[in-house]
Amino acid sequence: MKELTVSFGTRSYDVSVGRGALAAADSALFTDGVAVTDEKVYKLYKVQIESLVSSPERVAVVPVGEGSKSPERLSWLWRFFARAGLRRRAPVIAFGGGVVGDLAGFAAATYMRGAPLIQIPTTLLSQTDSSVGGKVAVNLPEGKNLAGSFHQPRAVIADTAFLDTLPDREIKAGMGEVVKHALLDGGALLRLLQDGSLDKDRDEIVFENIKIKAAIVQRDERESDKGARMTLNLGHTFGHALEAYTLYSRYNHGEAVAIGTALAVRAGIALGLTSPETLELLHGLLRRYNMPYETEIPACDFIPLMLGDKKNQVSSGGDEVTLVLLRNPGEPFVHSIKLKELESVFMAC
Ligand SMILES: NC(=O)c1ccc[n+]([C@@H]2O[C@H](COP(=O)([O-])OP(=O)(O)OC[C@H]3O[C@@H](n4cnc5c(N)ncnc54)[C@H](O)[C@@H]3O)[C@@H](O)[C@H]2O)c1
Ligand SMILES: [Zn+2]
Repeated sequence: MKELTVSFGTRSYDVSVGRGALAAADSALFTDGVAVTDEKVYKLYKVQIESLVSSPERVAVVPVGEGSKSPERLSWLWRFFARAGLRRRAPVIAFGGGVVGDLAGFAAATYMRGAPLIQIPTTLLSQTDSSVGGKVAVNLPEGKNLAGSFHQPRAVIADTAFLDTLPDREIKAGMGEVVKHALLDGGALLRLLQDGSLDKDRDEIVFENIKIKAAIVQRDERESDKGARMTLNLGHTFGHALEAYTLYSRYNHGEAVAIGTALAVRAGIALGLTSPETLELLHGLLRRYNMPYETEIPACDFIPLMLGDKKNQVSSGGDEVTLVLLRNPGEPFVHSIKLKELESVFMAC
């Protein structure tokens, strides 16, 4: 098992990673807590979840899927905590994927003006990305993650044994962010992915991901304008536009991010800003992990949707998109470009 500390002064916390990390955790962390999970994870890991709380009534089970990140479910959770007599210093234990983490995290951030949160992520995406960094939120009908907060967890326990039961498509959902982190960092994770495999080197891969995410969020806790956290958007401006164009039904988020990252690298090369070797390297990685790196949908069909992306900082004329590009692996930078110019980069328009 491996450990690291995410440093936020008095709010610093430990992350433990590896097979058996949950059994090895200090049980005092969970005292008087309430657990939150989804129906599927509850079925699979009932024994482990119930062992963390004083009675099975202290487990809140929400429906599977993004629909649970709603104001209605949030308010249901607040009332669950109140009825369970959750005291102010007792923890909310988020046991599941990113949906459970974001929902339970926001409930913890707001219940009695802030309860401690323990993240026990069970998907590749939540172990490598969403459980670290403190972003918590629910969706509104008007948009994703529109109501939320920053609430750093008290501890993160990423037990990689949970990934044994994860379906292949959920592995792909996480792999997009893993490849993104590897390219942003350009170091140990990239080499691990190039030489190893997710089966063989799972613990190390998850650990290196968390190290990269932690280093970025430590530098920029609250996502300031042009801050380090913005680089985490690599592949996402293209990816979100592709997801929106295909009505969120054709690609899962990880696949859209993989294709989006390849498009960002291609755009960088066409603009003379990115080394051509970066594209070869990325293609090699995506092939190796069975991820898509292109789409037959012409980029010019969906890139206009980038202007509507929530994270796009719209220029005064409203016709510029802000992209994260790479000079080389490990050298990301932010680049604003007029939509028309970007369209001419992808000449099929
Ligand atoms: N807070 C952040 O910084 C951040 C970052 C990225 C994504 N997110 C959010 O994360 C969410 C997506 O998270 P996700 O991909 O983990 O989705 P998810 O939580 O919906 O989990 C995906 C599916 O896997 C199942 N599952 C979970 N663990 C399992 C296991 N061990 N074995 C078998 N099945 C299991 C779940 O029941 C669900 O059906 C989105 O809402 C996204 O907005 C948040
Ligand atoms: Zn993402």
